[in-house]
Amino acid sequence: MPYTDNYERDVYGILAFWLRNDYDHGRFLDREISHYELELARANQHMIQRLGEVWKKAESKNAEIGSLLHEAQHVTHEFHSLLTHTMDRSLNCSVIISTPVSLLDHMVREAEESQRVFQLIESGAQLSPADATIHENVFWLRQMADHLGYIRHYLDISNYDLNFKVTNMMQKFERLLMQATAHQTMFRRPRHENSPILNAFNQTIIKEAKELEAFKLELDALIKECAAATTSPPDLLEHIAREAHHLWRNLEDGIVR
Ligand SMILES: [Fe+2]
Ligand SMILES: [Fe+2]
Repeated sequence: MPYTDNYERDVYGILAFWLRNDYDHGRFLDREISHYELELARANQHMIQRLGEVWKKAESKNAEIGSLLHEAQHVTHEFHSLLTHTMDRSLNCSVIISTPVSLLDHMVREAEESQRVFQLIESGAQLSPADATIHENVFWLRQMADHLGYIRHYLDISNYDLNFKVTNMMQKFERLLMQATAHQTMFRRPRHENSPILNAFNQTIIKEAKELEAFKLELDALIKECAAATTSPPDLLEHIAREAHHLWRNLEDGIVR
């Protein structure tokens, strides 16, 4: 598992995680822009290049944190604008791309989450364990359910049994998301330590996210060997496995990162 070998959780590592996330999103989108949309393709190419540069800077750990954070905020803001603009055009049927609207929205939400994390790093603010737990579960469980939806979207329909399995997994994560959303209103602010209910739920999610990560990596290996019929970008599964990893690590640490 290459990404877990050097998965750094310091400030540089967290910035690198989020910048790489946007960089990958740009590359995935690049494959799905029609040749009729030259302007969008060029703007997106420019974003990929910028995001890649800032990501590499974060990985090298040489840059001063303040200026790196500022650069990360700036480039993320620009990419967010491109995505929301494209999503708006897609909703109005005025762009030719094969990316589903919900997938654009998924990428927009991750860009927004990264902006929240950058702000937390900048302010040095700490969320209480219960606030962090509820935030992480509400945000990421929707992303996890989406990921399974996108696996199904790209898988060839001839994979009947695998499609059935993925649908069941997606529905399980949708139910877990509903539970997390219920907790959000049941446990009112101010929140401090996790209650036994939140702790038990966390344990369930940590276990489920680890299993989901392993499943995504299994499928990743098949796709990279061209042994599964799919139109998925070759490294999409590794990308979403990394996000499952990120979720359970944040829950174990009781933080938003
Ligand atoms: Fe992502
Ligand atoms: Fe995602």
